[in-house]
Amino acid sequence: IANAPAAVQEVVLAQPRGFCAGVDRAIEIVERALTLYGAPIHVRHEIVHNTYVVNDLKAKGAIFIEDLAEVPPGATLIFSAHGVSKAVQQEAEARGFRIFDATCPLVTKVHVEVAKLAKEGYEFIMIGHKGHPEVEGTMGQLHEGIYLVEDAADVAHVPVKRPDRLAVVTQTTLSVDDAAGILSAVKARFPLVREPKQQDICYATQNRQDAVKLLSGEADVVIVVGSPTSSNSNRLREVAERRGTPAYMVDSAAELKPEWFTGLGHAARVGLTAGASAPELLVQQVIERLKALGALSVRTMPGAEESTEFPLPKGLGDRSMAAH
Ligand code: F3S
Repeated sequence: IANAPAAVQEVVLAQPRGFCAGVDRAIEIVERALTLYGAPIHVRHEIVHNTYVVNDLKAKGAIFIEDLAEVPPGATLIFSAHGVSKAVQQEAEARGFRIFDATCPLVTKVHVEVAKLAKEGYEFIMIGHKGHPEVEGTMGQLHEGIYLVEDAADVAHVPVKRPDRLAVVTQTTLSVDDAAGILSAVKARFPLVREPKQQDICYATQNRQDAVKLLSGEADVVIVVGSPTSSNSNRLREVAERRGTPAYMVDSAAELKPEWFTGLGHAARVGLTAGASAPELLVQQVIERLKALGALSVRTMPGAEESTEFPLPKGLGDRSMAAH
């Protein structure tokens, strides 16, 4: 019997892909808290939106909760990378937990900006996705005067009281192109609106979206490793698809479907990337499956090199100590 023809000829990897500095730091905070204080360590919300990471930390003794009432008095509590509202922060302090804050410093920067401008009498439009914990955390920095818009059409309905004292903030993991379109709609209705000094969409989101644009030009199909809850991973899939390249998101190598690579008339060149919360281990497992489907070569696209690293919160040691 003749062998079946190879479905895949080549794997092309996006650069950069996978973990950002905020995710790396958040996971390290949980791991160090487990080492220093012992299991269980409670974490409010999934530390980062990745099934593998969450299950791995659960196995090491982390307990993920949504409601602080589930956490026993005196426990150690970690806030997830997405950040929390003032109400959650205050409730956690009132309950007397030992708290470590794994909020990404780039999200905290947005919180600080909101608090500062609110003191100067500003109202806010937040561009983001309803129900995402980062949006709840940023909107929850204020009791009132912050309005969510999810698309350009929403801009017509925000009940802004003082258009001359209005600022825009965004979720850090939006599509750069979508956010620009929504921002134009905001500026059309509120010409005096104050934009963020440096845009709130973070370097990692920007770099991964740029890389997937380049990747989709080189690939017949794009695979994004990421969990369904991960905002930035979903955006990567959309970016590839909008460039006209079929794109699929997988939470693990087991979700890969061989039929995605057939029917092209030739063996597929598969572009592969990973969201900011997806471990490289999962990318390597996907590569192994693609090799089993016939891929003979793996190459990495040229792209941005990242060197951002954030310090850990006080009380967990510093990174130089982790080198041994
Ligand atoms: Fe932070 Fe951006 Fe990662 S906001 S957690 S560096 S995706």
